[in-house]
Amino acid sequence: METKKFGKDDLAEAAALIRAGEVVAFPTETVYGLGADATSAKAALKVFEAKHRPADNPLIVTVADPAMVARFATVTPDAAKLMAAFWPGPLTIILPILPGALSMVVTGGLQTAAFRMPASALTRALIAEAGVPIVGPSANISGKPSATRAEHVLHDFDGRIAGVLDDGPTTVGVESTVIDMTVQPPAILRPGKIGPAELAPVIGEVQSDHHHVGAKETPKAPGMKYKHYAPAAQVVVVDTPAQFPAAIDWAQASGQPFGVLACDDILTTVDPAVPTYTLGSDVTTATHALFAGLRWFDLHPTVTLILAQAFPADGLGAAYMNRLLKSAGNEHFSQD
Ligand code: TXA
Ligand code: MG
Repeated sequence: METKKFGKDDLAEAAALIRAGEVVAFPTETVYGLGADATSAKAALKVFEAKHRPADNPLIVTVADPAMVARFATVTPDAAKLMAAFWPGPLTIILPILPGALSMVVTGGLQTAAFRMPASALTRALIAEAGVPIVGPSANISGKPSATRAEHVLHDFDGRIAGVLDDGPTTVGVESTVIDMTVQPPAILRPGKIGPAELAPVIGEVQSDHHHVGAKETPKAPGMKYKHYAPAAQVVVVDTPAQFPAAIDWAQASGQPFGVLACDDILTTVDPAVPTYTLGSDVTTATHALFAGLRWFDLHPTVTLILAQAFPADGLGAAYMNRLLKSAGNEHFSQD
């Protein structure tokens, strides 16, 4: 199948494909998503197939406005407060669904579902035009780094989905915060740009439960048990900028071809012969560039080892470090 490239003038054609049960990738402020009619089990199945996603990992339901959620789920008063405070924006809210309102294919057999209203006006217009919410898992092959540009989507899915709606590079760079509103206190299942410091003033205490879940545990967010974001090369996290010289010496001594993923101030000290990808200047630019950087090293497969810069795990840094540590399978550089 030809994968059509859509822009803002092609919303009617993209929406018609969604209504026809086809898969169209869409932009958000976090990462690109793989869209399909969330009210059609058949359409949602195509998304699982395209992503090679395990069937027990439920899909986010992406809506054009808060009113769309009430068609499928019970919107609790606190959930309504979150929607008023943070939507449209990078917050995904888990709610109890109305009996039979969504296919088990979408919910992974759970009695709850995750809802998200993204900031992209283009995507909200697409959903409104389609008249149905769209499923929205990240538009990457399962286990690979998420897509922050339309070209990343095409790299993974060209010829296998009906289209991709291009709205340029995403702004945040890592996926939305996932908050479970079916437990008390509400639990953050996946850290994102919106953290406990932003959530607590709106709904009170929240718990952070996003530890790594082993294969045999039953995870709260099924997606947490799978290895994620991994490029072909081994990622090794360098905990502080001061450790880079020693980490580079170690990588050189190991004889492996290696690359460096770090901010400009570190990259200026690296031998120009070493492949590098810049994370910019701070945790915000680094979060924006992380997935693009991991994907860049995949396209330069001479490298088998990537030394990657850590940031303090607070605020946006918590989301950045969550993704980086998963991509590294928790490997840190250590000097002893
Ligand atoms: O920023 C984002 O959220 C992006 C963009 C495209 O919107 N989407 C995204 O979707 O990251 P996905 O499917 O890659 O991640 C959704 C996460 C998964 O870990 C999934 O297991 C979890 O949310 N999830 C979905 N429904 C759930 C539910 N009912 N209960 C618990 N976790 C759920
Ligand atoms: Mg994902």
